Amino acid sequence: MARNIEKDALSGVETTGHEWDGLKELNNPLPKWWLYIFYVCIAWSIVYYVLYPAWPLGKTYTKGLLGWSMRQEIADNMAAAKAGQAKYLTAIAAKSVDEIQKDKDLLSFAMAGGRSVFNENCAACHGAGGQGAKGYPTLADDVWLWGGTTADIYKTIQHGIRADDGDTRATVGVGMTAFGKDGILTKEQVDQVSDYILSLNKKPADAAKAAAGAKVFEENCVACHGDKAQGSLAAGIDVGAPPLVQANWIYGGDKATLVETIANGRAGVMPAWAKRLDDTTIKQLAVYVHNLGGGK
Ligand code: HEC
Ligand code: HEC
Repeated sequence: MARNIEKDALSGVETTGHEWDGLKELNNPLPKWWLYIFYVCIAWSIVYYVLYPAWPLGKTYTKGLLGWSMRQEIADNMAAAKAGQAKYLTAIAAKSVDEIQKDKDLLSFAMAGGRSVFNENCAACHGAGGQGAKGYPTLADDVWLWGGTTADIYKTIQHGIRADDGDTRATVGVGMTAFGKDGILTKEQVDQVSDYILSLNKKPADAAKAAAGAKVFEENCVACHGDKAQGSLAAGIDVGAPPLVQANWIYGGDKATLVETIANGRAGVMPAWAKRLDDTTIKQLAVYVHNLGGGK
């Protein structure tokens, strides 16, 4: 076909001279800027093929001159993170929970570590953030059954409460006496002492029953809960009995729950963690729990 440069009459664009059955091919070349970017991309891809892993070759691949691999990069990052942690973990292993609490760097490391272990192991019972649930005490307040110092909390987590552990706090099965079931108090007395506790908490109560209940309390409850119902810890008694005034109730402070608790007793079990978690982890947990709310 002869080269026949002419302009298309309709669009005014030059034709390439190609023509098929009267259809002419217009000559619309790519813009220069587009073309150069295209060449740069090709050049860049060749450099990339040479330097970085690129082509699959059956079971392997071209490794590239730099020898870079994403897997190696992750492994390096993890090794660096571990080495960074090792410094803290060694220090935590060597120090008491109280010393960790006073060291700014260790404290923030332990708080982060403690939070994640807490969410994994403790939140199921104590709630995220330690807010507690029925039967599981709040850890984010400053009311403690067994003490709120770092050392107290550390021991509670290690050995549990009424748990299968030689050093556990309280004896397995021994807790709040079942005053009704064991025939120590009559139904009427249980009713009266419940009203007394309601009155202590400024809740609606039958005044006559509450007055009779005060006497029942004095004779049966003071030995564990203290003469002002302030709880065994505040009263200096080592039995893990909670305060019954202004209480953040473990089981509940409404009339029906009080009657249920006093009639049938309670013996909550906190598992011992010394066998399941290593010591540095338990120390981090103790620091975390201590700082949740009311660490003392
Ligand atoms: C299976 C449920 C359960 C799990 C899981 C659990 N706890 Fe407990 N925890 C309890 C119960 C129940 C009590 C209260 C026992 C009682 O009634 O005396 C308690 C009590 C405590 C206390 C004592 C509070 C006080 O007032 O002295 C601390 C501290 C504590 N738990 C921390 C933890 C930590 C930290 C973990 C996770 C490693 C954890 N608990 C996991 C059930 C659980
Ligand atoms: C031998 C010690 C002991 C005596 C005596 C005792 N308690 Fe308790 N009480 C406990 C312990 C320990 C707990 C905590 C049980 C647990 O955490 O599972 C408790 C828990 C309770 C609770 C539950 C509080 C909550 O937060 O839900 C109430 C209510 C209660 N006691 C009332 C009484 C009354 C009323 C008397 C007297 C009639 C009494 N207790 C006598 C040890 C005692």
